[in-house]
Amino acid sequence: MLTSAAMLVTLAAGASGQEAPATVADPARGLGEWEKIHAVFSHPRCANCHVEDEHPRWSGPEFPVARHHGFNVGRGADGSGFGNAGQRCTTCHFDSNSSALHGPPGVEGWHLAPAEMVWWQKSSAEICAQIKDPERNGGRTLEEVATHVRDDKLVAWGWAPGPGREVAPGSAQETYEAIRNWSAAGAPCPGG
Ligand code: HEC
Ligand code: HEC
Repeated sequence: MLTSAAMLVTLAAGASGQEAPATVADPARGLGEWEKIHAVFSHPRCANCHVEDEHPRWSGPEFPVARHHGFNVGRGADGSGFGNAGQRCTTCHFDSNSSALHGPPGVEGWHLAPAEMVWWQKSSAEICAQIKDPERNGGRTLEEVATHVRDDKLVAWGWAPGPGREVAPGSAQETYEAIRNWSAAGAPCPGG
């Protein structure tokens, strides 16, 4: 983590010719990076929380069960993603994974992503457009999307999901780098 003093030095160094790589449109390279990002975002460990309707999903190769979350769990009448009264996510999802097979997974602050951040059953092109749209990605630049993936605890869970669950491909750091490389290549989306 850079201190603000270090950041100033970095910015000053940029002025003397050491700035971050400029964006150079390179669709072939960019789409190759996007494929890596898509493999992660569309994976059940991520997409199960990125849904547009009321219900988190239970799905994936290690989930031979109904697709909607059990117990009729919903995002919550207040729209918060933390669940309905009496069925808050944190009633069952604690700060760490249950060690029991099919026990509730957990990290601090477990809740559903806002409905506009939907990836579940969306095409690669649709997910790509969502990630780039500040109206639907929480007002983030692509650099901020990348650092969210590198630093967020809910995201990190996708690579440490508890017993019996397939982990997301690659790692948080590799996905962070893929997002930055994709952005530097002009952030192309498939099909256009
Ligand atoms: C437990 C539920 C949960 C899981 C699992 C989860 N997310 Fe999220 N995700 C959220 C919530 C909640 C937000 C909104 C946070 C915010 O805007 O500050 C979010 C927002 C995001 C965002 C920023 C908004 C956007 O759409 O660009 C990215 C990127 C993201 N998640 C990536 C991932 C990735 C990658 C994985 C899997 C490795 C993952 N998430 C798994 C709940 C989850
Ligand atoms: C009554 C207890 C309970 C409540 C309340 C609950 N969950 Fe769960 N949840 C579970 C259990 C148990 C599992 C694990 C199921 C399994 O492994 O077969 C689970 C699994 C999940 C999964 C699947 C993770 C994966 O990819 O493997 C997601 C996503 C999820 N819950 C989200 C939520 C969200 C979001 C809320 C609140 C809106 C919530 N849950 C509320 C018990 C609960």
